Amino acid sequence: MPKAPINPQKIVVFTGAGISAESGLKTFRDSNGLWENYPVEVVASANGWRNNPELVLDFYNQRRLDAANAEPNKAHLAIAELEKKFDVVVITQNVDDLHERAGSSNVIHLHGKLNQARSTKDYNLIYDIGSAPIQMGQTCALKSQLRPNIVFFGEMPHFLDEAKHHILEAACVLAVGSSLVVEPAASLLKKARFHASKILITLEVDKIPFGFKLQRGKAAELVPYFCNRWLSMGKLTNQ
Ligand code: OAD
Repeated sequence: MPKAPINPQKIVVFTGAGISAESGLKTFRDSNGLWENYPVEVVASANGWRNNPELVLDFYNQRRLDAANAEPNKAHLAIAELEKKFDVVVITQNVDDLHERAGSSNVIHLHGKLNQARSTKDYNLIYDIGSAPIQMGQTCALKSQLRPNIVFFGEMPHFLDEAKHHILEAACVLAVGSSLVVEPAASLLKKARFHASKILITLEVDKIPFGFKLQRGKAAELVPYFCNRWLSMGKLTNQ
């Protein structure tokens, strides 16, 4: 089957925890990151939820509060500005809502959202909860315990097909602030087209995906630099 045509005005911005670091939110794998202080299998896995749901709720209640108290930084704001001239889709592994609060209108959350709770009986029953905690004993309309609308390890990310479709059409893929070690999210970048401009802005990464140009540095400095260039040129290049 022929591939979808590339849309010269379309940019996909793929983000990870590093883009929110300068908003004061901890990343996962940097030194003193979240997984250093909280064992991932205990607080963020399907098994952890079965064994000790209270601890999992506590962990995400704190994350939800931290995210609600954080503000979008210059990187989130610059990405939102791109909508003035380009067709922008943000595909994020992040569970905070800083892209939306910066003004981005098309954000796909692969790993869920902190500001939502979900039924443990019917996964389509989702509730907006803002910054409020989820407590043990708090139930959905079907009377089963509520859990965070977060993808635990051992569960499938959300909206993968939709994300893939957008990357295939993009003339530019900008990846920001991810260690690119979590699958299947990281492998989405392999779908970027050969002729697309492909840039990765991050501090540390073990493996640069094929065709991507690494720009090592802080998101709040480098993302506005590239976004401003594209806006002033009116086209998406990796130069
Ligand atoms: P990681 O913590 O694995 O990686 C964060 C990346 O951001 C690293 O490459 C850092 O070098 C970089 N970084 C840190 N500060 C930065 C800054 N100011 N500017 C630019 N880059 C910076 O976070 P993710 O790759 O997002 O999943 O992790 C992916 C997934 O693993 C998360 O979505 C989460 C986690 O387990 C789930 O909870 C399902």
